[in-house]
Amino acid sequence: MTTPSTHPHEARDRALRAAGIDPQRVPEHVAVIMDGNGRWAKRRGEERVFGHAHGVESVRATVEAALESGVRYLTLYAFSTENWNRPKEEVDALMDLLVKTLVQEAMELASKGVRLRAIGDVGSLPDACQAQLEEVKEGPEGEVHLDLVLALSYSAKWEMVEAIRAMMGDGLAPEDILPSTIDKYLQTADLPDPELMIRTSGEHRISNFMLWQLAYAEFHFTSVLWPDFRKENFFDAIRDFQHRERRFGGLPNAKSS
Ligand code: IPE
Ligand code: IPE
Ligand code: MG
Repeated sequence: MTTPSTHPHEARDRALRAAGIDPQRVPEHVAVIMDGNGRWAKRRGEERVFGHAHGVESVRATVEAALESGVRYLTLYAFSTENWNRPKEEVDALMDLLVKTLVQEAMELASKGVRLRAIGDVGSLPDACQAQLEEVKEGPEGEVHLDLVLALSYSAKWEMVEAIRAMMGDGLAPEDILPSTIDKYLQTADLPDPELMIRTSGEHRISNFMLWQLAYAEFHFTSVLWPDFRKENFFDAIRDFQHRERRFGGLPNAKSS
């Protein structure tokens, strides 16, 4: 436990309070469905890929916002299992963008204490992506401030099937299988469940994302398209989260006033 006099994040906490955020109740893990790149591009009379390219700036801003607010884990849904069904040119362009971005950002991320990893069917990604993900895996030399988790070729149903196959492969008996066992067999085995899920672009669905892990998450939907998403939008989501009353199936908290 930290006491106010020895608090290592005094300046940060002051800034958060000034922004209307309670530093003590920042979610540990935030998951984001980054949606709306195609529509953003179309509105500008451009190809969908133009929107994806602009989405990279939003990723940067979101990582910055997560670092500034003290979020410890940030998961970004970047490519779903179902996204493989898009036209080949779009898929190829997305994969190229991914490799380029990883190459460009790796050093900068490490210098900020960000450790990068992927969840999903990484083996189905092009070799260049796999090699680049392998390259950045080491992470920063010093303290890790943020784990940035990219969900790539990920879907919750794919993940669940993999987990069941692995449990059966390990010869688990039915009575050995508890919710905590399933936690351990999912891609997110060493991550806490997200407390907050953000989806951009005005769609109100989870599109096969973390069905198990989001069981008690708070959902924040915004009509902002992903390429327009910035730090203030992330802080809005945190403020929204802090106004929610989380119950976990229990009774409402007695209000003090
Ligand atoms: C999100 O934007 C990026 C990915 C799914 C890869 P979209 O490409 O889904 O953009 P919209 O939803 O069609 O506008
Ligand atoms: C969800 O967005 C997947 C990602 C953001 C990577 P989609 O655009 O693929 O989802 P739907 O098709 O609108 O449900
Ligand atoms: Mg979409």
